[in-house]
Amino acid sequence: MKKLIVGGALLAMCCTPCLLTTALAQDKGPTDIVLQSTIDPAKPPKPSVFPHGAHQSRLECKTCHHSKSAEGKRISYAEGQKIEKCETCHNTKVTGMPEKINTFKKAAHAMCQDCHKKNKTELAKCSVCHKK
Ligand code: HEC
Ligand code: HEC
Ligand code: HEC
Ligand code: HEC
Repeated sequence: MKKLIVGGALLAMCCTPCLLTTALAQDKGPTDIVLQSTIDPAKPPKPSVFPHGAHQSRLECKTCHHSKSAEGKRISYAEGQKIEKCETCHNTKVTGMPEKINTFKKAAHAMCQDCHKKNKTELAKCSVCHKK
């Protein structure tokens, strides 16, 4: 009986830290995402596929994710940062966002398209992201 209790206590001691680390680890989000503007949608809407997991395996989170200060300035990504949808900040209703990135489309093209163009021209074709 005594042995069993000791065993249980040990198990609790070993596992609690592991469970805590899992809970605190950064949420990686979905592996595959379909992106679609809801605030400034095109007519008809034009969703974009996005293999998030495949990009995460090659790139650091900070390449894409960032946040905003109370003054509206960009805050670089740091582990544990709250990750919000791009459109929360990049839309026409937010004041102070530069015009060239004030919609989901423009912010996404500036980030996704730019990197794709630099890598390979074929990757910048509309159909890579906007499937028929
Ligand atoms: C190539 C760019 C890119 C990289 C690299 C990347 N992400 Fe993302 N991530 C995105 C985009 C785009 C979305 C979708 C945002 C939206 O719906 O507006 C997203 C969504 C998420 C979400 C869900 C947010 C929500 O509320 O819907 C989480 C969580 C997340 N990413 C975490 C991470 C972590 C952690 C890393 C690094 C391991 C990472 N991402 C790397 C582009 C990226
Ligand atoms: C919490 C608010 C917020 C979220 C969420 C956000 N951004 Fe931004 N983003 C900003 C701010 C603020 C700037 C800087 C604007 C300026 O120059 O005044 C910025 C700048 C940019 C730029 C210009 C280049 C650079 O990095 O400075 C791009 C491109 C961009 N964001 C794309 C995205 C994409 C794509 C997502 C989603 C993965 C996203 N942003 C999520 C606030 C945000
Ligand atoms: C920093 C660079 C970078 C950024 C930012 C980036 N990508 Fe990519 N993406 C790549 C590279 C490189 C590949 C090709 C990988 C390969 O061929 O193995 C790729 C591949 C893809 C593919 C698959 C192409 C195929 O058919 O094989 C899609 C779809 C895609 N990206 C969508 C997006 C979207 C949408 C965004 C923005 C939310 C984005 N990417 C942001 C670099 C980037
Ligand atoms: C690397 C990925 C990528 C490529 C390549 C790309 N786009 Fe996009 N595009 C996006 C993302 C991400 C969005 C924002 C999410 C959304 O609303 O579709 C977007 C948004 C749009 C929108 C607004 C859609 C809506 O419903 O609001 C249009 C229109 C558009 N793109 C046209 C194009 C055209 C035309 C091309 C080719 C010249 C192109 N895109 C190439 C990723 C891409």
